[in-house]
Amino acid sequence: MPTTIQTFAEKKRRGEKLAVITAYDALTAAMVHAAGIDAILVGDSAAMVFAGYESTLPITMDEMLYHTRCVVRGAKGAFVIGDMPFMSYQAGHDDAVSNAGRFLKEGGANAVKIEGDDPALVARLVHAGIPVMGHLGLTPQSVNAFGGFRAQGKTEASAAAILKSAIALDQAGCFSIVLECVPSPLAAEISRSIGAATIGIGAGPDCDGQVSVINDVLGLSTGYLPRHAKRYASFYDDGLSAVRSHIDEIRSHAFPAPEHEVGAHAPQRSKPASESSPAS
Ligand code: KIV
Repeated sequence: MPTTIQTFAEKKRRGEKLAVITAYDALTAAMVHAAGIDAILVGDSAAMVFAGYESTLPITMDEMLYHTRCVVRGAKGAFVIGDMPFMSYQAGHDDAVSNAGRFLKEGGANAVKIEGDDPALVARLVHAGIPVMGHLGLTPQSVNAFGGFRAQGKTEASAAAILKSAIALDQAGCFSIVLECVPSPLAAEISRSIGAATIGIGAGPDCDGQVSVINDVLGLSTGYLPRHAKRYASFYDDGLSAVRSHIDEIRSHAFPAPEHEVGAHAPQRSKPASESSPAS
């Protein structure tokens, strides 16, 4: 059964965990879809793990739409959520609605994700027929306001503010809310308090589902693994040793071997003019 926004509500009601993962290209999207993921988030984390920036801030609408189209082409029938990049929705609601619409119209996404606490914008998007995933806690687009990538909701006041925002986003119509790097008891309380499915990343086991960055899961990064992430493979290390072996074989003349050569009939030598038969 293909995922829809109703799947999020049904799985929450049945107590079945939702599994969401990021992807930025067609092949990875095909792989995570084949593995049975519930939804694919084309995260603006692409700015960091794909494009090599230090934060998510530089990625543009056009770049996010490109990644979204790649994912949609690679994972036909998957539920794809496009992550609205920094400054595509903060400057005004009209701008936000038209940028969100582009994710569905030009990107082929099924929903958008926006960070922070703007229930009026969520209501407008939902009214326009655009399903919205919220995102609270450590919202990376606010890295400068937070003074770094810092966990949120650790004080009583900040926990209460996040709970209040989650309730407001739920009432405004979010089908789901990402909770990033908040204490597990707060995430558990939010999950109990709202109808929208909570999707945690660094928010403990009691969310309605989990979202992970694909590069962390595959071990496709050069070093740092966030505390909340789990690595299941070593794609970077395996790739490094594969390419090293390839380089060694080129340098030692072991590659290409005869089986890698293009097969061809021996070229026909043209006869010298003296041997050719006279024209009749
Ligand atoms: O951009 C992203 O990948 C995200 C997830 C970490 C939730 O927002």
